[in-house]
Amino acid sequence: MTRYEQLAAQIRQQIEDHIWQVGDRLPSLSLMTVVQAYQLLESQGWVVARPQSGYYVANRNNSFAAAKGGKGLHLNENVEINASIFGVLQACKDPDIIPFGSAFPEPALLDEPKLAKSLASVARRLSKFNTPANLPPGNEQLRRNIAQRYATQGIHVAPDEIVITAGAMESLVLSLQSVTQPGDWVVIESPAFYGSLQAIERLKLKAIAIKTDPIFGIDLDALEEIANKYPIKACWLMTHYQNPLGGTMPQANKKRLVDILNKHQIALIEDDVYGELYFGNKQPIPAKALDTKGNFFHCSSFSKCLAPGYRVGWVAAGHHATKIQHLQMMSTVSASVPTQLAIAEYLSLGGYDNHLRKLRQTMEQRQHQMLGAIAKYMPASVKVNMPKGGYFLWLEFEAPFNAIRLYQLALKEGISIAPGSMFSTSEQFNHAFRLNASFTWNEQVEEAMKTLGRLCHYLINERRE
Ligand SMILES: Cc1ncc(COP(=O)(O)O)c(C=O)c1O
Repeated sequence: MTRYEQLAAQIRQQIEDHIWQVGDRLPSLSLMTVVQAYQLLESQGWVVARPQSGYYVANRNNSFAAAKGGKGLHLNENVEINASIFGVLQACKDPDIIPFGSAFPEPALLDEPKLAKSLASVARRLSKFNTPANLPPGNEQLRRNIAQRYATQGIHVAPDEIVITAGAMESLVLSLQSVTQPGDWVVIESPAFYGSLQAIERLKLKAIAIKTDPIFGIDLDALEEIANKYPIKACWLMTHYQNPLGGTMPQANKKRLVDILNKHQIALIEDDVYGELYFGNKQPIPAKALDTKGNFFHCSSFSKCLAPGYRVGWVAAGHHATKIQHLQMMSTVSASVPTQLAIAEYLSLGGYDNHLRKLRQTMEQRQHQMLGAIAKYMPASVKVNMPKGGYFLWLEFEAPFNAIRLYQLALKEGISIAPGSMFSTSEQFNHAFRLNASFTWNEQVEEAMKTLGRLCHYLINERRE
């Protein structure tokens, strides 16, 4: 098969799986291979060309087959971290605090005014039938919109494999719950997104935290060793712009990761909430793309790019999709219906990719501004990463720097930070902290960075005395 014939077969499969439906406009790309693939599909009656407009899915007047159901180590037996994380997050709610400790992007960067119009429009049209129709797995149009976004990345995820959830947090917890029983072992990163620690505490699981590199992600030699020794059920990690370190797994590492997990029948729970926030022009491909057995979960949401408060996320759950729906029915019942419909309408109107392009450029600019302020105000001994996406910076001083004290002192001056202790149940990150770099650069933000720098100097000098 030639390249364009392969591509045509893929697109045809996507049409059969209802990722693209009758009348949908297919992505317009001027690449010769794509044009040839569309021409081939046109000759076979799958698509129609409309002059000056592009290629559309043809009405073949048949009912398509239903989509196939998808296809340094730290051991911790008792994870208890929820209470301390709660305190740090509460501090970010105060509008007078500069929220460098927050995990949310600056609200002004999001496309909420346009989305609000979609919300108002769907609210006017909501009928009594909307609720049952949008129960798990969630709104069909939205699941197709998401499947189309995967398809444009070359990843085949059928809409039936997707479950809409209340943000990524619900999708991650349900995924973990669906493959574990209390007392099971799971692997997480070290340091890890605190949500994974909270979920493990709630589900009464045992965690093994594996050293994670600020550039390349989780240590795969250590993972292999652990997988040989322990009956691990799931591995929860971030492949892109890891929270808090910022690293992204190279493609070769993703391949090795998938091989290790498949060999030991460990489910991957891939948390990819920052995957759309890449700098440059090439979106990294998730490990889920290498899943041939339908055993991996790819979890994400609209919280980091569009509307955190709408609480709309999803999981591409492979053959676990039905189990996820059962678990969701027993907990939250479903994601909010009006916000699902609003996002589905917003995506169908077009313009999301334009918004994302601008958002990525702004995030990159702001990261540079924040790095500039760190160089200007922080003690020279600071170590800071330079992620290629997302909006977090991870700063470390030589131990025994006390980032919890920094957090307390900064809060008194009206600034929040996320101390390293939030990201681990051990004390090994007490000398580090995470900053949110998404805020509009203004005098107040600059002044806050100056204050943080002064406090870091103070803590280092105090240690020497
Ligand atoms: C790494 C990571 N995963 C998941 C989430 C949860 O996302 P959501 O707000 O969509 O539930 C967050 C939010 O901070 C996050 O940083």
